[in-house]
Amino acid sequence: MASLTYQLLSITVVLGAAQLISGYSFNNCIEEPYSKGQIFNCLNRKNKNMSAIISDLPPSAINLTISINHLWHIPNKSFVHLPKLQLLRLDQNNLRSIDQFAFQNLHQLKSLNMSNNNISELNPFLFKDLHNLTFLSLTNNKLKQLPEGIFLPLLNLTTLIMRQNFLTNFSGIAQSVSFLKKLRELDLCFNNLTSLSHSNVSLPKSLTVLYICRNNLSTLGCKNSFLEFVQLLDLSYNSRLPTMAFQGVDLSHINYLRLRSTSVKIVEFLNISNVTAGHVDFSGMGLKNDNMLIKLCKLLKRKVKGLTNVDLSGNWIRNLTNYTLCYCPKITGVLDLSRNKLKSLSCLKFLHTQKHIKSLRVEHNHLTSIKSCKTQDLRNLEEVSYRYNRILSVNAFAFYHTPNIKTLELNINTIAFLHRKGLKGLKRLETLRLDNNLLTDLFNNTFEDHFNLKILNLRNNRISVIFNGTFLSLRNLTTLDLGGNKITHFEPSGLDGLESLSKFYLDGNNLKQIDTSLYHVFQDTLTVLDLQSNQIRFFTENIGSPFMNLSKLSDLKLDGQRPYGLVILPRTLFRGLHSLKSLYLTNNKIYHLDSDTFDDLTSLNFLTLDNCCVGVTQLQPGVFKNLRNLTKLIVENMGIQNFSKEVFGNLTQLNTLQLNRNGMQSIQIDALESLPELHYLDIRNIALSCTCKNSLLQNWTLHNPKVQVVYLYNLQCPHDAKVKFYNFDTKVCYIDLGEYLFLSTAAVILLFTVTPLLYVKLYWKIKYSYYVFRSWFSEQWRRLRDEEENCKYDAFISYNFSDEQWVMDQLLPNLEGNGSSFKLCLHHRDFELGRDIVDNIVSAVYSSRKTICVVSRNFMSSEWCSLEIQLASYRLFDEHRDVLLLVFLEQMSERQLSSYHRMRKVMLQKTYLQWPGSDCTDPAQAQDLFWKQLRRAVKTGSRLEKEEKEQKGF
Ligand SMILES: *[C@@H]1O[C@H](CO)[C@@H](O)[C@H](O)[C@H]1NC(C)=O
Ligand SMILES: *[C@@H]1O[C@H](CO)[C@@H](O)[C@H](O)[C@H]1NC(C)=O
Ligand SMILES: *[C@@H]1O[C@H](CO)[C@@H](O)[C@H](O)[C@H]1NC(C)=O
Ligand SMILES: *[C@@H]1O[C@H](CO)[C@@H](O)[C@H](O)[C@H]1NC(C)=O
Ligand SMILES: *[C@@H]1O[C@H](CO)[C@@H](O)[C@H](O)[C@H]1NC(C)=O
Repeated sequence: MASLTYQLLSITVVLGAAQLISGYSFNNCIEEPYSKGQIFNCLNRKNKNMSAIISDLPPSAINLTISINHLWHIPNKSFVHLPKLQLLRLDQNNLRSIDQFAFQNLHQLKSLNMSNNNISELNPFLFKDLHNLTFLSLTNNKLKQLPEGIFLPLLNLTTLIMRQNFLTNFSGIAQSVSFLKKLRELDLCFNNLTSLSHSNVSLPKSLTVLYICRNNLSTLGCKNSFLEFVQLLDLSYNSRLPTMAFQGVDLSHINYLRLRSTSVKIVEFLNISNVTAGHVDFSGMGLKNDNMLIKLCKLLKRKVKGLTNVDLSGNWIRNLTNYTLCYCPKITGVLDLSRNKLKSLSCLKFLHTQKHIKSLRVEHNHLTSIKSCKTQDLRNLEEVSYRYNRILSVNAFAFYHTPNIKTLELNINTIAFLHRKGLKGLKRLETLRLDNNLLTDLFNNTFEDHFNLKILNLRNNRISVIFNGTFLSLRNLTTLDLGGNKITHFEPSGLDGLESLSKFYLDGNNLKQIDTSLYHVFQDTLTVLDLQSNQIRFFTENIGSPFMNLSKLSDLKLDGQRPYGLVILPRTLFRGLHSLKSLYLTNNKIYHLDSDTFDDLTSLNFLTLDNCCVGVTQLQPGVFKNLRNLTKLIVENMGIQNFSKEVFGNLTQLNTLQLNRNGMQSIQIDALESLPELHYLDIRNIALSCTCKNSLLQNWTLHNPKVQVVYLYNLQCPHDAKVKFYNFDTKVCYIDLGEYLFLSTAAVILLFTVTPLLYVKLYWKIKYSYYVFRSWFSEQWRRLRDEEENCKYDAFISYNFSDEQWVMDQLLPNLEGNGSSFKLCLHHRDFELGRDIVDNIVSAVYSSRKTICVVSRNFMSSEWCSLEIQLASYRLFDEHRDVLLLVFLEQMSERQLSSYHRMRKVMLQKTYLQWPGSDCTDPAQAQDLFWKQLRRAVKTGSRLEKEEKEQKGF
């Protein structure tokens, strides 16, 4: 009893405690897996209400991104519950109004991004608590001006970005940043500033990077020393800014100055400014002809001894003569000629006088071909980029004159013809970009000199076959990208020579099979193999293990095979991949995953099977059994019907599980609880039924302290989108249990309290009732079979042992003998031996037509006699069979009878016979009458009605 109570009590306590532990899921945010409650992203929630988005985040949050929502207002104290925030992104909302105390308590905040909103006004005290802020972006808003002192508290600010606003008043800006002693970068591009006038304030010494591009500057209008500490100055695209604006302005600390698309005449400018000439970016300065370039060069030569980088891009240059650059000082770094109108390079003759250039960029020009150049002279050139041209052909020995190139970028052209000797002589080449061209064939000597090549990118060409020996010399190649071609096969020794290959991209080709022989080449080097989106299919389960020798392979992609998917996934396919860390099998129509398919993948961390399979997937128990190191599993959209422990239970390291878009209606929580490391669970778009079979799941998602269920509070019930899974009504489910507990407890308690009482007070009553019931039952049963007339005895005599003398001497002779041959049942004589006395009494009462009770004081106090009266009177009252005859041996007063209710009731109902004792006047005569009456009573039928009729007829 006590232990039961204790158990009930503890159940109640546990339930109560569960209610207190808050769950680990958020309304509108996702905690970054592994971030320990520190990084939250609340993206794309289309929510207008700030507190609805972040009110349930824990105080441990450090990085918070609330982007791409419909927020328009930040109320006061929005973040007071997140005092540890260091990074806050509010970009891409519709923010218009921000209350004065919106950022209260964000003492630790370091980075605040409010770009791409609709802010036109800022409260002057808005940033009051942000002493630690170092980065602030207000890009793309509608600010017209800044309130005075707005940045006053931001003494740690290093970067302030206010691009793309409507700021007009530079003086105000200068005022508000002037005391930011740590400010390094200020970006004011895309505003409407007309000058840099600054009424008596100066920029902080720390400010070295200043962007004022794309404004409306028509003059600088600042003190000469105003920009004295600035090192990077961008004044580009202020089309009205004239040369004379710089008269006297100290630009001596500048190491990069951009003046593109202004009205500045570069030669004049260099004449009046004390900027270091070599630090000026000459791009977009309108230097379109030789004349102008020569003039500039001559000037430069006077001013500086040498130049490192010269940017001549965007100058409409059509042609460079062999002599143009000879007037320039020696250039030792990068020469950038991009975005001009050059049509040909003429073997780079214009560099003959500038042989020290290391890097040449001629991107976005009009080059159409690269001609042969047989004289090896530009030995210092290490990098060449001809990206974004219209190059169609690369002729033989096209780079023979630049033998020391390490990086060559020919990508994003229309190269259809690459002469087999086109890249001849490039023995130091390390990186070769030929991607996004129209190449169809690679010859076996195309790359013959490139034994130092490390990266070869041939993506997005039209190569269909890799011929024998193509890569034979590329023994140092580590990365080969052949993605996006039309490769159908490799010739048998097509991949020979790639002794160091580590990353091999073959995605988006037309490979129809995985040829075992090919991958023997790589053995211990290959780490990444991308076979995504080919046409690989298997026609039988029984194939060899093509990857058997790739013992270092860590990334394998087989996703999205065209057009029908993998269909059959041979169980031996992944044999030997003991180092594999990531496996992609998405978007295939695999119809069966054998339970030992993944057995060798003991190092796997990441597996995605998203939409991998056709229709309903029956994942085999044990299919993941060896994936002991798997931390992230994506099984979206697989038609999984049943999420079971047998299938998923072995993933002891699993942290992230994406189960969305599957077919199960319920999830057993024991299966979830068998994943001890699970922290992130995505069950969106599963038609989880909102019925009792998910009531435990509901409780678990709400109250388990460890697993984040993505957007739990938005999961809808399938039958009614307005009802949410997290709060569908589970009372009915729990009431059953509660009621059951209550009722059974109540019953048990009642039993335990009442039983002793009953035992003491009503022991016999209960016992009798029990027998009454039993007799009633057996009678009902018996009645069907035998009629009363078949009674064994005429009368059962019930008497107390002390009255035996009278029974034997008087009753027996008068009823059994003496002319009347009644058959009597006496317990000492007729009871069956060995049978329970009670059963004997019951059967005696029921197998006799009458029960004669010999009542005396002793009889009254005997329990068995009472039982007999009970049984007989039961037949009297309840069956309307008059079976009971009471014979009183002694006179008894009302008082003496008073405690025998049943007896009194019988006596009131019927007449009874009084034995005329020896004290009456004529005992013999009286006794004679007594026997007559008794005999007649025994003789009468027991049916009351029958008796009445007979009496009438008397
Ligand atoms: C928060 O974001 C910043 C910037 O992206 C990053 O450097 C920092 O490591 C992040 N903080 C945490 C706790 O990951
Ligand atoms: C700034 O941050 C540092 C550590 O991040 C902290 O110790 C300090 O209290 C913060 N400063 C203010 C004024 O809150
Ligand atoms: C600037 O930041 C440092 C450390 O982050 C902090 O100790 C200091 O208090 C901050 N400065 C001000 C003026 O709050
Ligand atoms: C910039 O300011 C001028 C007046 O200073 C105004 O006429 C013009 O419309 C403004 N431009 C924009 C884009 O606000
Ligand atoms: C640059 O010019 C300014 C004004 O013309 C002058 O004050 C400053 O001393 C000059 N600086 C150098 C390094 O020549």
